[in-house]
This record gives sequence, structure tokens and C-alpha cells, in this order.
Amino acid sequence: MASLDRFRVIGGAQLRGEVEISGAKNSVLKLMAASLLAVGKTTITNVPDIADVDIMADLLTRLGCTVVRNSSLITIDVPNTPGHRADYDLVRKMRASINVLGPLVVRVGKAEVALPGGDAIGSRGLDFHIKGLEALGAHAHIEHGYVIAEAPTGLVGARIDLDFPSVGATENIMTAAVLARGVTIIDNAAREPDLVDLGEFLISMGANIEGLGSPTITITGVSTLSPTTHATIPDRIITGTWAFAAVMTRGDITIREARAEHLELPLEKLTTAGAIITSTSDGIRVRMDKRPKAIDVSTLPYPGFPTDLLPMVIALNAIADGHSLVTENVFESRFMFVNELSRLGAQISVDGHHASIDGVLELSGAPVEAHDIRAGAGLILAALVSEGETTIDEAFHVDRGYPNFAEQLQKLGAKVTRE
Ligand code: UD1
Repeated sequence: MASLDRFRVIGGAQLRGEVEISGAKNSVLKLMAASLLAVGKTTITNVPDIADVDIMADLLTRLGCTVVRNSSLITIDVPNTPGHRADYDLVRKMRASINVLGPLVVRVGKAEVALPGGDAIGSRGLDFHIKGLEALGAHAHIEHGYVIAEAPTGLVGARIDLDFPSVGATENIMTAAVLARGVTIIDNAAREPDLVDLGEFLISMGANIEGLGSPTITITGVSTLSPTTHATIPDRIITGTWAFAAVMTRGDITIREARAEHLELPLEKLTTAGAIITSTSDGIRVRMDKRPKAIDVSTLPYPGFPTDLLPMVIALNAIADGHSLVTENVFESRFMFVNELSRLGAQISVDGHHASIDGVLELSGAPVEAHDIRAGAGLILAALVSEGETTIDEAFHVDRGYPNFAEQLQKLGAKVTRE
């Protein structure tokens, strides 16, 4: 039976026009979880219209919060003593649920959060999160599929050296340390703009944090935090996706609310491919008038090339002039998407964490399937430059990260329907 959850794309359009970037998924979900740190009503603006926001809202509601969403604004009213259990039925839908762990253990003294499990991009452990909370004095273990962390007498600051600058682990440690006694130093911390946004949110609640955006973050614990109002930063991965779409389709897209400083390396790579990128009053404009040149890319933690744009780079190289090598250094199995791209005629061979790509002049439409958010977006970009029709099944993955993607693509001239 035909799936009803798909994008249908007829390739060939050059995308032209204007898009506006919404708030970042990878920021807003963390801000929502961190609102648990202060009793009372916190307001978050520039909230994107994506399903994961509703899942986090359900999770917070189950913990006793009153959550009201009004278009791009959300208020979260946090009770004196929130619940402490995040159940599997919600956590399994969205890995960012793990971000309630740090706030709950320090505020309530106990947290039980279901293990999110692996997903289509790799195994994604939690060992750094657990070790970090233990260093702050929590007792943490895994039992019956849950991380159980307890700190009945509170947490105490410590020096924590992360083996890898994990975004999620840095966030959980930081959101616990803000209410711990004394000073916490996180070495080899993640530097992603989403994490800086979370840090600034916490500072606006009264937290004492220094070194955001650098590899060493110093947090001096305070006794309480107050509710705040905060605007989510614009989504740099969606910005990057539109920039790749402009280049691949030889189009001209003005991306409003784009923060070029969060995408230095990807924009530099697109310039190498031949794009003309200029600043506008509130964003950037990306133009392309020829076949892109192949680009070699290695993903790395920020400020390196973002792993979330890996499918877009591979899709671009699939139709680029020349041979390229793309290396994935963050997640172990992000290349699953390559099999789908090969169905469109891409010439790619994978060896461990390297993909070797020979650009072809044109791809040809075929049925494919999205396995995760970013792979889905990469396949849609490939479909835009494929001859004929491509259907992308399991489209809900894309909806999780890209609000109204089909409508926005249509506005830019693409022949896309969402079924
Ligand atoms: C976040 C983003 C995701 C992005 C990723 C890297 C959200 C919701 N997701 O994911 O879109 O691709 O950052 O920029 O914000 N690791 C461990 N043990 C741990 C923690 C992580 O081994 O305890 C490993 C992971 O398996 C992975 C690597 O570290 O290989 C990076 O993971 P991490 O930075 O934690 O990514 P997330 O926060 O899950």
C-alpha cells in the first residue's frame, strides 16, 4: 500500500526568492527543559512550529508544568516541586528529552529519565552525561531502561574534563551546575551556538556562567534562579540547508534572520564551490549560476563543519564537477543515507567514516526513504536536482526539523507536494 507520509518532488526548478529562518530546534528544546530550574512562568519567543516542541511541552506538562503555546511564543509555568520521571513513550520520540536530567536532579534531588536509545545516525551514548553528574556528587545508574540520578542533599561544583565536546553532556552538566554549591569547570566543553544560547538563557535567570563559546566553561553555583523571557536564536542548520539548496539548484535565495557568523565554514565551502554569498541588512543572499565544484569536507564539533549538514554536502557533491572526499567524525552511522542517494544515481562509495563521491551531471528521480531529519532534507535537495519525480517517504522526520518545508520550497518555485 502506498505510504501517505511523503514528499513528492519534480526536479528542475531553480530556487529563487526569500525565506525567513525560525528559531533553532536544537536550542528551543533545551531552553524549555532548562525552564524547570526556576519556579514560576518563563516565556520563550521565536519558537519554531515543529512537532518536537509539542513533545517537550507534553513532557513538561507531565512533570507538573503548565505549558501554553501561542504561535511562536511559549510560556512554561513551573511548580515548586516538579515530578521527576520522564517516561519512555515520550523520550523515545525525541532524544532532547534527556535534557531534563540535569535540571531535575539539582532542583528535585531525583530524576528518572528513560534511555532514548540509538537512532538512525549512530548509537549516541550517555556516559559523559552520567559521569558529569556523578562528578557533581549525584548517584547515577541505569536500571530497567532508565537513567536514575539522585542527589538528595544537592550537588557540589567540580572540575569535569569531557572526553569529547558533547553538546548534550555539556548542557546537562551546565544546567545542573548552575544550582550546585561552589564552582564547576567544564573542560573540552561544546561550543555550539545553541549551547551558548542556553547559557545566555541561564544567565538571564540569574546564573553565573563564564566562558560560553570557549572550550572551558566556568559556572559558579547560585541558590535560586528566577523565571525569564528569552528569544530563541535562529536555526543555523536550516540556514545552511537553504544555502545548499540555492547552490545546488543554481538559484538565488535571500535568507532573512540568518546568522552568517554561526556558519563560517559551510559558507566558506560553498564559496569554494562557486557560490556568491553576500550580507543583507538582516541575513545573507546566496546565488549560483553554474555547476558547483566538488568540495572536500570533514565534520567536527563547532566551529568545525556541522555533522547536521553532512547529507547536504554529499547531495551537492553528487552533482558537482569533480571528485570529493567527505569524512564524518561525530556520528558513527550517518552514511546510511548514501544508499538512498545512490537510488537517484549518485556515485558514492563509503569506507568506514569516509565517503568518496564522483559528481555526475544529473541525478534521476526515484522513490527513496528518509531515515532521520537531516538525511530527509538532504534527499529533498537531491530530488530538486533530479530529472523527473522523486518521492521521499517517512516525511515526518523532515517535519521534526523544518517547519512548513514544502510550503517554503513551493514559494521559491520548487515543484513539491507534501502528502
Ligand atoms: C546534538 C544535536 C544534533 C547534532 C549533535 C552534534 C540536539 C537535539 N541534537 O546532539 O543535531 O548532530 O549535537 O552537533 O541538540 N557521545 C558519547 N557519550 C555521551 C554523549 C555523546 O559517546 O555521553 C558521543 C555521541 O555518540 C556522538 C558524539 O558524542 O558520537 C556527539 O554527540 P553529542 O554532541 O552529545 O550530540 P547530541 O547532543 O546528542
